[in-house]
Amino acid sequence: MDEQVRLTIVEPDGTKHAYWIVKGKTLWEALQTTGWETGGSCGGQGTCGKCKVRVRGDVSSIAPNEQEFLIPDELKNGYRLACQCIANGDVEVCLDHEKPFHWAKKGLCLYETQIPNQSDVGIRQFYISGLQKEFPIPIFDRIKSALPDFSVEISVENFNDLTQLDRPGRPTIELCGIVLEKKKISYVMKKKQTLYGIALDLGSTSLFAALVDLENGEVMAVSSHTNMQRIYGEDIISRVSYCVEHENGLETLHRILINNVNHMIDELVEKTALQSNMLFKVTVVGNPVMLHLFLGVATTGFALAPYAGMFSDEMTYSGEQLGLQINPIGRVWILPQLGGFVGADTTSCLLTIGKEIKSFLLIDIGTNGEIVLGHNGAMWAASAAAGPAFEGGAITCGMRAGEGAIDRVYTEEDRLQFSVIGNGLPRGLCGSGIIDLIAVLLRMGCIEENGAFSQRAREIFQVEQGLWGEELVLIKGTMTASASPLILTQEDVRQIQLAKSAIKSAIDLIMAHANISKEELGPVYLAGAFGNYLRSESMMRIGLLPEVETDKIINIGNAAAQGAILALLFDDKMKESRSLKENVRYVELAEQKDFQDIFLKNLNF
Ligand code: FES
Repeated sequence: MDEQVRLTIVEPDGTKHAYWIVKGKTLWEALQTTGWETGGSCGGQGTCGKCKVRVRGDVSSIAPNEQEFLIPDELKNGYRLACQCIANGDVEVCLDHEKPFHWAKKGLCLYETQIPNQSDVGIRQFYISGLQKEFPIPIFDRIKSALPDFSVEISVENFNDLTQLDRPGRPTIELCGIVLEKKKISYVMKKKQTLYGIALDLGSTSLFAALVDLENGEVMAVSSHTNMQRIYGEDIISRVSYCVEHENGLETLHRILINNVNHMIDELVEKTALQSNMLFKVTVVGNPVMLHLFLGVATTGFALAPYAGMFSDEMTYSGEQLGLQINPIGRVWILPQLGGFVGADTTSCLLTIGKEIKSFLLIDIGTNGEIVLGHNGAMWAASAAAGPAFEGGAITCGMRAGEGAIDRVYTEEDRLQFSVIGNGLPRGLCGSGIIDLIAVLLRMGCIEENGAFSQRAREIFQVEQGLWGEELVLIKGTMTASASPLILTQEDVRQIQLAKSAIKSAIDLIMAHANISKEELGPVYLAGAFGNYLRSESMMRIGLLPEVETDKIINIGNAAAQGAILALLFDDKMKESRSLKENVRYVELAEQKDFQDIFLKNLNF
């Protein structure tokens, strides 16, 4: 496998993101792969001069065309053209305020992992003797003796294919065995071919797929699509209700998902000019409801307490059984879940955190927040129903992160400043903008500890009387894309209080369960695409996270997808996922006697 070097991206506010990238790639390629816009417009040709970044670390020397675009002062301060600057070793890239850098949703995070040198999956070439007239030994026996270190499990169809090769009197025969699991041959054939696989992360909002070369571990192409099940329910609970209330509900949602995935597979094979029968292995992660829907297994158990599914262990099927467009002998592995609503996506995130990190807090903030606490090698998991507020739902001017969404709020000389995705007029606030806004208003003294608007807010902002109480006018209608004012209501603040208390109470209870204090916490990993947009100071100011040093907080991006890729390539990672299932203790928060008290306390800012 290619040598990896560490890429650290530093945002203007100091937030750091760490990735592992292939040594020898340009920073432009590395930024694209990890999901950051580069600002360039010539496709990395070095002719537009717009991909300037400030760089520290082990990089190539300045190329002649960089001299054309960079003034001496910029060169002195470490500026480079990302598309001309090659990472020879560990490198840090600092992003400017002015640059319109935004997290690209389809970005694939290559967070640090313990990557073994070679994939366990691949082709094993071997030789068998031809069929002797005097001592005819069955071909399967000859194959087994040629591969003493492997178990051989091949299909009936495969036996029949081999019959054609095994004519009496033929000398030695050269064969190839397909290895999809460590030390196990799953198919034997005459011709060598490259094997590819797909890593799938099934989110309730979007689906992610990566096509991976199973022999050298290279991610050939990625695809991200909206989960089309959304038309039957915005969140997983409404999809479960749809299945309960409609006779063919489960079948409908299962089919939609399989079609969605097959569509992504089509797109990936087209992008890479491969064929779907070259795909031999698929790993799948997602929350428990999504995994049930993927298999077409009843989700009724999630409709009522105690909210348990039909399975939580690792599951294996053939692609054919599930109707996936891969090679008919290809296998589909669903990673194990950790319990309750903590699914295989969380297991997968844990695979990206090296086993040597014994103490950590992992948080995936979404409609359903998943939290895992590791301390001295022991692990506890919990899930918290945060609701849609952090994704812009249930907030008057909330929206998903996209064109026109305010994703960042800060102050300059005590005046609110907004950064808008796409740099046009604002249309609403996405989750990171809402969290920033509340944090800024708390700092300005405009929101009281109990969430009420203060007298100071009434002095600074125009205040309207709305249906549900007071509303602060943040941006006048003349300055928004919809021509309506952008407002924050007292009810919006309440929704944020409820959402943040759900997550923070889960963290507090799980820490109490493990009997550790915030001083003893190791790194705090924020997973999920949403986590990448959040600023740690804001999260701590509103009380969403425990107060720890900001450099302990690390965004690990789409770690679930990265874990699925690791499980695709390395049998050890699959084994690790099984042992995580055994060792992580699931904590049912509703059963904790202090739950109500802690939840009420955490409603305050
Ligand atoms: Fe145009 Fe780098 S992308 S110069």
